[in-house]
Amino acid sequence: MLPIPLEMTDATFLERNAGLLAALDGLLAGEREPIANMANTAALLFGMLPELNWAGFYRWRSAWPQGELVVGPFQGKPACVRIAPGRGVCGTAAQRRQTLLVPDVHAFDGHIACDPASRSELVVPLLHDARVLGVLDLDSPRPARFDAADARLLEEVVRRLIAGCDWPA
Ligand code: SME
Repeated sequence: MLPIPLEMTDATFLERNAGLLAALDGLLAGEREPIANMANTAALLFGMLPELNWAGFYRWRSAWPQGELVVGPFQGKPACVRIAPGRGVCGTAAQRRQTLLVPDVHAFDGHIACDPASRSELVVPLLHDARVLGVLDLDSPRPARFDAADARLLEEVVRRLIAGCDWPA
């Protein structure tokens, strides 16, 4: 895991990611159903971000803090279905409520290898009120594929997704 320092102004950030964020806003406009919006968000990220072999969501099932993560809308190969809190990169990000940038998945103790081709990973938790709704998970076959700029972008994607859906109580 790396700390995530990033020196970039808001204007530079928005300019660099204008295409993807505008496309996301377009998909979210007029639709507030969470699974539909997660599905289109996963497809958008998988199509627009280079060097990914998996992009998608794990949803928190059962009332937090009970329960586990269950695979949700995604693009890529079939994946592990259930991940307990604190397990793997996804379960750790959910438990810590923290974005995790993992440049080398082999060096992450407890990494869950759904696809042996994955070499680096970025996981952003979906936080809403006091709850963890799930996580957004990106995998890449290239070591150190993700950096602080990606983490900031994916946190912004998650922020817009959460604001753009009606989440069940
Ligand atoms: N590698 C993840 C599991 C999910 S798959 O990558 C799609 C983890 O360690 O939690």
